Amino acid sequence: MNFTILRFDSIDSTNLEAIRQAQMGANEGVCVVARQQTAGRGRHGRTWVSAKDAGLFFSLILRPKFETKFLPLITLMSAVAVFETLRESGLNPDIKWVNDIHIEGKKICGILAETSETKKGLAVIVGIGINLRSENFSPELTGSATSIETETQKPTDIETLMQILTRNLDEFYTLLEGENGTVLILEEWAKRSSYFFGKKVRVKLENEIVLGTTCGLEENGALRIKTKTEGVRIIQAGDVEMVRQI
Ligand code: BTN
Repeated sequence: MNFTILRFDSIDSTNLEAIRQAQMGANEGVCVVARQQTAGRGRHGRTWVSAKDAGLFFSLILRPKFETKFLPLITLMSAVAVFETLRESGLNPDIKWVNDIHIEGKKICGILAETSETKKGLAVIVGIGINLRSENFSPELTGSATSIETETQKPTDIETLMQILTRNLDEFYTLLEGENGTVLILEEWAKRSSYFFGKKVRVKLENEIVLGTTCGLEENGALRIKTKTEGVRIIQAGDVEMVRQI
């Protein structure tokens, strides 16, 4: 993939800018990066707090060629690429289904993939927020989030981090788009997540809570949970409010 990086000092949201660029015809591989976001977007309509230089705020435009039923796998592919990036930075990450990256139970990265219909066809925007410094966390995040600087006790070189990230995104997106790619990316995800099998979880859906033990993924990345009373329940990525360890 040919990467083109568009840099901003401050922007509403790198995902929104990437959607605007895709609408104007930007090619696959165009990335938007900002030092600060004034309206950073998180999953489920939440805000992603994005103070200046406190995180890597990065969005990549993809124009996937595979069947739309496999689109959720782009999120899993991105989680694998971030996992490898953090591992190369000296950390020991885990992927919490479906796409949060944790270090010893604390969130260090969130991923928000969004789709947009454009004149050139469907574009998928992969938005990645990696915490570089912890000092700007709001009080409710302090116990549950961490950052590269807190974990390594060293300042992060954002340019090096971005180079490693784009290399890994290129590698795993090529794998996903290639022969048997949807199966192979699930295998790569499974190797890097303690949530793949045998994890006791509590999933909060809109109107119910599902308790059970994880037992693998469906072909589109949905999570299988073995419950005591209802057999195996399939949790689609869009359904989940949160997955907690119990
Ligand atoms: C989550 O809620 O866990 C997902 C957070 C995703 C945040 C990133 S930061 C870069 C990109 N731009 C946004 O507005 N959101 C994503």
